Amino acid sequence: MKILVTSALPYANGDIHLGHLAGCYLPADIYVRYQKSRKRDCIHICGTDEHGVPIIIAALEKKCSPKEVIDYYYERIKKAFEDFGIIFDNFSRTSLPLHHKISQDFFLKIYQDGYIYKKEMSQFYCESCQLFLADRYIYGICPFCHNQKARGDQCELCGRWLEPFQLISPKCKICNSSPIEKKTFHYFFALSRLQEKLREWLSTKDFWKDNVKKFSLGLLNQGLEDRAISRDLPWGVRIPLEEAKDKVLYVWFDAPIGYISSTVEWAEKNNKGDLWKEYWLNSDTRLIHFIGKDNIIFHALIWPAMLIAHGDYILPYNIPANEFLNLEGRKLSTSENWAVWLIDYLKEFPPDMLRYTLAVNLPETNDIDFTWKDFQTKVNNELADILGNFVNRVLLFIKRSLKGKIPEDLELDNKVLETIKEIKTKVENLIENFEIKNGIKELMKLPSFGNQYFDHEAPWQTLKSNFKKCEKTITNCLILIKSIEVLFRPYLPFTCEKIRNFLNLKKFEWDDVLEKEFLLSKPILKEVEILFNKIPEEKIELQLKKLKGGKMEITIEDFKKLDLRVGRVLNCERVKGSDKLLVLEIDIGKELRQIVAGIGNTYEPKDLIGKNVIVICNLQPAKIKGIESNGMLLAVGEERAIAILTTDKDVPPGSIVR
Ligand code: 2FM
Ligand code: ZN
Repeated sequence: MKILVTSALPYANGDIHLGHLAGCYLPADIYVRYQKSRKRDCIHICGTDEHGVPIIIAALEKKCSPKEVIDYYYERIKKAFEDFGIIFDNFSRTSLPLHHKISQDFFLKIYQDGYIYKKEMSQFYCESCQLFLADRYIYGICPFCHNQKARGDQCELCGRWLEPFQLISPKCKICNSSPIEKKTFHYFFALSRLQEKLREWLSTKDFWKDNVKKFSLGLLNQGLEDRAISRDLPWGVRIPLEEAKDKVLYVWFDAPIGYISSTVEWAEKNNKGDLWKEYWLNSDTRLIHFIGKDNIIFHALIWPAMLIAHGDYILPYNIPANEFLNLEGRKLSTSENWAVWLIDYLKEFPPDMLRYTLAVNLPETNDIDFTWKDFQTKVNNELADILGNFVNRVLLFIKRSLKGKIPEDLELDNKVLETIKEIKTKVENLIENFEIKNGIKELMKLPSFGNQYFDHEAPWQTLKSNFKKCEKTITNCLILIKSIEVLFRPYLPFTCEKIRNFLNLKKFEWDDVLEKEFLLSKPILKEVEILFNKIPEEKIELQLKKLKGGKMEITIEDFKKLDLRVGRVLNCERVKGSDKLLVLEIDIGKELRQIVAGIGNTYEPKDLIGKNVIVICNLQPAKIKGIESNGMLLAVGEERAIAILTTDKDVPPGSIVR
């Protein structure tokens, strides 16, 4: 049997936050690491979802191309996953030509087989954005409750579902202008015709999680309507038909095909072009989609319907979708910046602390609240006091009381072996059943048991009174630690690597635990270090402040430390080999400064000469691409400069800014 695990393809228009991790990436990673450790033929496939209106809008907002948006976020997302220890066998992108080709072939096959038809219709079109507007990008007055800001698909005030043409004075959500009605046509996927086949297939899924099963059946019972799968957009996978030159596939049509194309890319990268077929065309493969609950309809109904219509590929075996993670009692919201971004987290804390706190709190059956306070409690009272403490006290005992010498005798304690065996078996059943949260809870019983065992055996006493017994205790504690190292690995890979290094352990795998070679392998004490430093109150307060106020408060004295002055640009040139960097010569009153600024994508050097700019004069000098930079220009824009700050009236260079 093969196991093909996928995680939802994140949109390449924003960073990864804790909600994403708890929704699918962390449980998927734990599941795959576990399967791999059991030497199962299991691969983890993902990539970024690089089409769709949100990406076009991000590009409009940032005044750059969609390609620049996706390139930027692809790298950031990929790196954040790597740093957090989420391992993929392949992390692809849906903008790749390979993906476009596979999606187009998929479309053509079901089009030729009669599952796709064409229909004329009218749609709102924004002339200033030059976009046909998706329903949720239109707002206006609700004809029922007169809410001024009802969305084109639903009024959130009275809850009624709407058609965009029902809205009174509809507006474009992107630019606020009034859209016009325009005739167009779209391709529809005949979902209604696949309803019975879907029902048959779903009826074999009685082992699915309740929430996923109920939700999918509920939707199916309401009846499925045919869906438009084309869009009039300048960005996406082109519809491969002469008559539809300007149309692209709806992003949700091509995105799940990304699971296939990413697997194909993986096979090609491994120089085994056909290897992907052994997964996707093999009825002995278990295809498992890890997703968040907002994606259930697509993965449990529409995507399987696409696969049924196509006919060549296997269907999902299981879809262990998670519920939502809330943050400090409030729904996560990226637009309101009510989120903890993985990139920010990783600047402050090690990955395993979050892997642990999310894992013991996964929203598997209901929404769960993440709070920083709870994060602190779990790290301090569980990771540090139970797991860290056990490993640490045993190793310190060996170092101090046994002078670093590992006992020679291998006298096993049955109670220890039985405990390990029992917990290991339980965890296996839990993970196989996608109860990832209960898996880690069960595993934590190992170090808890270890602590009790250590206390009960009191090796610091037997050290004098009964040295043999003392050695036996330590031998068995080491077996516990070795087991912890292997069994915790899917959850806490970084910590386990540390433990392995402390004791120079061979890298055993899951099923080796308690086997003869495992028991006989002898550790060497290399170093001892605290596994988890406790998190002090201040660090938690800082995180809360960041979340609530965005930035930390500063005093006027803090502000006065900035030496801000008006400068006049005397000279400006591009830095060779860089589109982004300009080198400027700036008059700041008493002296001339050379400053390197990342504004080359927005400004031509000649347009800056003679302009007033605002300079931070007391910034530490830096070298950028080998060129000295003495200060910084103030500009608007997060990732890229959109506009530089200048003065409203002409003032002499060197004037103080306050
Ligand atoms: O909800 C999302 O973030 C989507 N980008 C998930 C796509 S999953 C799959 F179908 F590609
Ligand atoms: Zn508009």
